Amino acid sequence: MRLFTGLELPDEMVRNLNQLLDRLRPAARIHWSSADNLHITTKFIGEWPDQRLDDLKSVLAGLGPRDPIQVHIRRVGFFPNPHAPRVFWCGIEAPGLEALAADTDRATASLGIAREDRPFSPHLTLARIKERLNPQPLREAIAALPALEFGGFAAGSFFLYQSQLLPGGSVYTKRAEFPFAK
Ligand code: 2AM
Repeated sequence: MRLFTGLELPDEMVRNLNQLLDRLRPAARIHWSSADNLHITTKFIGEWPDQRLDDLKSVLAGLGPRDPIQVHIRRVGFFPNPHAPRVFWCGIEAPGLEALAADTDRATASLGIAREDRPFSPHLTLARIKERLNPQPLREAIAALPALEFGGFAAGSFFLYQSQLLPGGSVYTKRAEFPFAK
């Protein structure tokens, strides 16, 4: 199975981002995410054998206690850059999240999972851009947004997710929850 860890978004955030997606979707024919699918990835694990799922869960459960992570969702942008965009994203500011990602990376490396070699850049993937895009209408729709603040919340746990690549798009299913409780 294909796995990753991440934070889930509370319903209120999903509603805010659904409004954002509703406003922007008409401006570009690209692969828009469904708001219900949005999550903040902290560690991409990749293919993992079913029979070793328990080993992975115990390593994740052993990450150690930490305070809740305050998450702010604000700004939008493009990876790798606005001139050759592949991903249209919403930004995440969350002190403590990078430490969680680094701890997860270190812990999963003990099971032989590849270390992250890129700097951590937390985001929500709003759309994937696989086709040629005329960026102007999307730029105008972004400029017309009333605000670039989409809310905030305190995360008290992270999740192990399974990702299934289905013809209709990726489906993400929670496989386990790991509370930060001290
Ligand atoms: P993305 O949305 O920025 O593509 C499930 O695929 C999750 O894991 C997504 O959030 C995706 O991030 C992330 N992901 C997929 N492949 C990845 C990779 N090779 N390295 C890091 N993250 C990856």
